Amino acid sequence: MLYITILESMVMYRSRLGNDLNKITLDYLSSISEDIEIALYDILGSQAHVIMLYENKIITKTEVKKILSALESLKKEKFDKKSDAEDIHELIESLVIKKAGTASGGKMHTARSRNDQVSLDIRMKIRDDINVLCNCLLDTIETLVSLAKQHQKTVMPLYTHLQQAQAGVFSHYLLAYADSLFRDVDRLYVTYGRVNESPLGAGPIGGTSIPIDRQSTAKMLGFKGIVENSIDATSTRDFVIEYVSAVAILMTNLSKIAEDFVIWSTSEFSFIELSDEISSPSSVMPQKKNPDILELTRGKTSEVIGHLMAILATVKGLATGYGRDLQQIKPAIWSTSKISISTLLVLKPMLLTLRVNEKQMKKAAEGNYLIALDVAEKLVKNGIPFRTSYKILAQLVQRAYRAKKQLSKLSIAEIKQLIKETRVDPKLVSQIIQTTSIFSSLKERSSEGSSGYEEQKRMIGNRIKKVNAYRTGTTKRDNQVITAFANLSKKVKVLMKE
Ligand code: ARG
Repeated sequence: MLYITILESMVMYRSRLGNDLNKITLDYLSSISEDIEIALYDILGSQAHVIMLYENKIITKTEVKKILSALESLKKEKFDKKSDAEDIHELIESLVIKKAGTASGGKMHTARSRNDQVSLDIRMKIRDDINVLCNCLLDTIETLVSLAKQHQKTVMPLYTHLQQAQAGVFSHYLLAYADSLFRDVDRLYVTYGRVNESPLGAGPIGGTSIPIDRQSTAKMLGFKGIVENSIDATSTRDFVIEYVSAVAILMTNLSKIAEDFVIWSTSEFSFIELSDEISSPSSVMPQKKNPDILELTRGKTSEVIGHLMAILATVKGLATGYGRDLQQIKPAIWSTSKISISTLLVLKPMLLTLRVNEKQMKKAAEGNYLIALDVAEKLVKNGIPFRTSYKILAQLVQRAYRAKKQLSKLSIAEIKQLIKETRVDPKLVSQIIQTTSIFSSLKERSSEGSSGYEEQKRMIGNRIKKVNAYRTGTTKRDNQVITAFANLSKKVKVLMKE
């Protein structure tokens, strides 16, 4: 009976080693507190595994029934973070043995290992996180596009080097953000395909002599297939790196949007104002309204980049096969998901409650000769080489700037004197200047993807369709997992009753 007592104690793996661990060593080894995130996946994985063992006549009906009932009851368990177990896999198995007895519960770990188990749990967690992230991203894109719809004619300067470059519209920026987030959705969407493969049944590294069916557990858990090579299945964390990389890129995109908004909300710019519920006050300066949420987006992005570096550094020198170092990357994955999802969840209301100061944007766009390039292009359309047009405009802008007046206020005489070397008709130049405004320029800006009014309208319509297409795809994926889990649950219930 001694083996039963050993197995029924919480610490199950130490029979080969003799003494129990002291508290400090256990703390050092244990991943229990971070494993709470994967507890439910571990239970589901174990249910699929034992059903497969039963269906392949490796365990009996009575045994599967007892194990499934124990696992089912653990779904509601508040796992003790201070338990003596080294991780959630050991804790769950010991609790199953306690509830179902060693004769049945002791068979749950047949033909698998914590090495395939932990990789399975991480894959299931990332798979769900990707689906949540894709939906949050699509919500944010939708918000950006609907805001763009309202600001198709909101004129503002476009910046390069943070210096005013061309005249444009606010919707153009918002659509640029939407497009960068579409690429993030796409990256995550593709990564999902590589995450969605089951490593279960790979064992510790080399597989098993017990006649298991890996395809069947994969199917029960909603995976598209298996990670075939058992060495690869247990060793690789490249899917983690891929996921965290995609999220790090997503976060840098969000961080750049946040930075634009921080700049535009300064009193110097005053292009936008964040709503009170999104801003934070200063503890001493009563007049202040700080964009803390946007600053935290920048700060949390650095954290995700740090997680990516930590994971890469852990994996790069590891010999093939499971190494306990891999335990350390888990909290970085959970934190990556939590940061990115919460950032998207706060950015959406920030966008929805944003006040846009259209007057201020227009004033900034009108003040600084932003139509110079549009005027030059009109000269080009009159057969004048671009280099000559550029030179003409450079001279005109310089004169107007010195005289502190608008281009349209330059007299024919001034124009004539300034462009005489070019032999271009000053009347033509004057007439073009007189008839060019930001509004006429934006009407004529027709190249694909430009700030032109028509292009804004076209892109908005197109992006709405694109959101819907991605939505259909992610919903389908969501449903595949939901259906698999519902079927698994049905199987569990039937077997528990029989
Ligand atoms: N707690 C471990 C982890 O998170 C589980 C796998 C342990 N495997 C082992 N052979 N020690 O990675």
